[in-house]
Amino acid sequence: MSRTLFVTTALPYANGSFHIGHIMEYIQADIWVRAMRMAGHTVHFVGADDTHGAPIMLKAEAEGITPQALVARYGAERPQYLNGFHIEFDHWHSTDSPENVELSQDIYRKLRAAGLTETRQVEQFFDPVKGMFLADRYILGECPKCHAKDQYGDSCEVCGAVYAPTDLIDPYSTLTGARPVLKSSEHFFFKLSDPRCVEYLQGWTTGENAQGNKRLQPEMLAKTREWLGHGDGTQANLGDWDISRDAPYFGIDIPDAPGKYFYVWLDAPIGYLASLKAYCDKKGMDFDALLDPNGSTEQVHFIGKDIVYFHALFWPAMLKFAGRKTPDQVNVHGFITVSGEKMSKSRGTGISPLRYLDIGMNPEWLRYYIAAKLNARVEDLDFNPDDFIARVNSDLVGKYINIASRAANFISKYFDGALHYGADQAILQAQWAGAAQTVRADLEAREFGRAIREIMAHADRINQAFDAAQPWLIAKGLATADETQRLALQDICSNALAGFKALSVMLAPILPTLARRVASELFGLDQDFVWTDAGVLPTRINPFKHLMQRVEPAMLDALFEPPPEPPAPAVVPGGEPVADTISIDDFSKVDLRVARIITCAHVDGSTKLLRLTLDVGEGRHRNVFSGIKSAFEPEQLVGRLTVMVANLAPRKMKFGISEGMVLAASHADATVDAGIYLLEPTSGAQPGMRIH
Ligand code: MSP
Ligand code: ZN
Repeated sequence: MSRTLFVTTALPYANGSFHIGHIMEYIQADIWVRAMRMAGHTVHFVGADDTHGAPIMLKAEAEGITPQALVARYGAERPQYLNGFHIEFDHWHSTDSPENVELSQDIYRKLRAAGLTETRQVEQFFDPVKGMFLADRYILGECPKCHAKDQYGDSCEVCGAVYAPTDLIDPYSTLTGARPVLKSSEHFFFKLSDPRCVEYLQGWTTGENAQGNKRLQPEMLAKTREWLGHGDGTQANLGDWDISRDAPYFGIDIPDAPGKYFYVWLDAPIGYLASLKAYCDKKGMDFDALLDPNGSTEQVHFIGKDIVYFHALFWPAMLKFAGRKTPDQVNVHGFITVSGEKMSKSRGTGISPLRYLDIGMNPEWLRYYIAAKLNARVEDLDFNPDDFIARVNSDLVGKYINIASRAANFISKYFDGALHYGADQAILQAQWAGAAQTVRADLEAREFGRAIREIMAHADRINQAFDAAQPWLIAKGLATADETQRLALQDICSNALAGFKALSVMLAPILPTLARRVASELFGLDQDFVWTDAGVLPTRINPFKHLMQRVEPAMLDALFEPPPEPPAPAVVPGGEPVADTISIDDFSKVDLRVARIITCAHVDGSTKLLRLTLDVGEGRHRNVFSGIKSAFEPEQLVGRLTVMVANLAPRKMKFGISEGMVLAASHADATVDAGIYLLEPTSGAQPGMRIH
């Protein structure tokens, strides 16, 4: 029976480029979607940018552009990645769209009418300089327990203590440095703890969909039970959900509540619907009919393990009590690591997807590798360069592609492309049709690794049978061979090629471009493979054309080299292009220290210099001459902190020895007088501290 599916991946935040984790999620979903389509099902596969929230607003502000412009900039990059990795969404949308505003406000109104929202006064830290309430991540201060400095508002990274932002000693706003004040404001809540929600979610999380499949993987079910109780009398542990934010905020207006916006996580999943709605409008399809709560469309979400709470609790409850269709399945994957290391943007580990493409690596190698390592469980997956090379070169090229390159040449050379099978045709057909069914079922169950192991086991058997039959020996004596031997050669090669075709069908969801070439170039078909093609024995082939390169190990080296620096802007406001790039090692050769200016005096006979005595925490003072006389009176500087180069070789000057250098800003062109500005650390720094 043909099914209709609505499939999504998590909506990426629109304040950054795609990283390898996003690409992995899209590859997983794309393979699944293609496998379903090959079975004749109708799939609507959509994505969108998740645009709202404080981080995007603040990043745009820092760049001096509107949030819309920021979102548009990242939005414009998306096709490069998606096309590059053969990821075929039907539609890509944005949560900052009219469809999303309408749907979010409608869902909110329905929840309000159902009595599932309420307002409460909430007291929260507020940055009086910025005029903005502060999420925990924008507040730093001293840990109340171990007194480590600069810890976040919710927990200490040093001692692990968990606390409220109000417990921090000397809290400050990371936005302005100001001390936050407590301020009260009205917030809107979705009453997730309402017995109706809890009961509904207990049923939804443990239930099955129309296919008889669990909606959640076992690990995820266990997780939701921690929140929902186990149905054995243990208490549900669900808090109500704060769904509002105060201005300034980049988000969707809450109806009838001026100055209040939906928290980004309220409108983000509704963005799935908004994207589908926009797609339906474009295609002339009926959105409401497609998502009829009593209809047969299956709604399937692919997400990572970090956002389960939102998708397995808030989202089904919101949809249910707004009278809408609820999700049929939430498929959760683990995280991709690179050589065992977690990705971190700040440390710059991970693989850049664009660099992968730029250095000419085949996107289908990555699709194959990721598929080979994925299963239906919530497990992390490691990208390991040696493993990558081995799987692509030995398995994909060495086993699978090798079948065609060996067998096709004999057929083209001696049989003009015609294939021939012995009496066992029906068996052969049934065998390949059956094998493809098994692989199809594995892909549907998201057991991609198992599917690939089966495919490679078939490839091994085909290659072994080919080797055992030694067709090259028959070919050598073909001039004098009889008809039986000619037929034997043709049979051996035809069997191998029928197998190659079947394996190409099975790999088509994973290697769509390669499969398309095999179908059209080698087998002369004018349509992409569908599952039933696996059991149809090919009758002819065209001459074999090279199908896939092996990975060069040097490519992996290039992939992990630091990317080339973007060209420096030609001119900067300081009046001079930025100097050549240096490494962190070069930088750390310069020992910069906080210094206190103990004394400061004019230098007799010098029009430019001041003489400074500096304390850099060494138990002695240093004498430094500095060319800042035009900007400061000596008494202005006494007692102040500044930054000095502490390991500069002492220099003998006309007026004495200078033991270092203090840092000051001025125009790069010494002939331009734009003032001199001594560097000064923020308060709290101590003499001798190192500047990193
Ligand atoms: N904007 C939210 C999702 C809203 S869905 C209505 C978000 N965005 S995200 O950009 O941070 O993450 C998008 C997806 O990428 C999530 O499913 C997340 O789990 C996934 N990944 C982020 N890092 C990942 C890896 N290292 N590995 C695999 N997927 C990971 O969360
Ligand atoms: Zn601590």
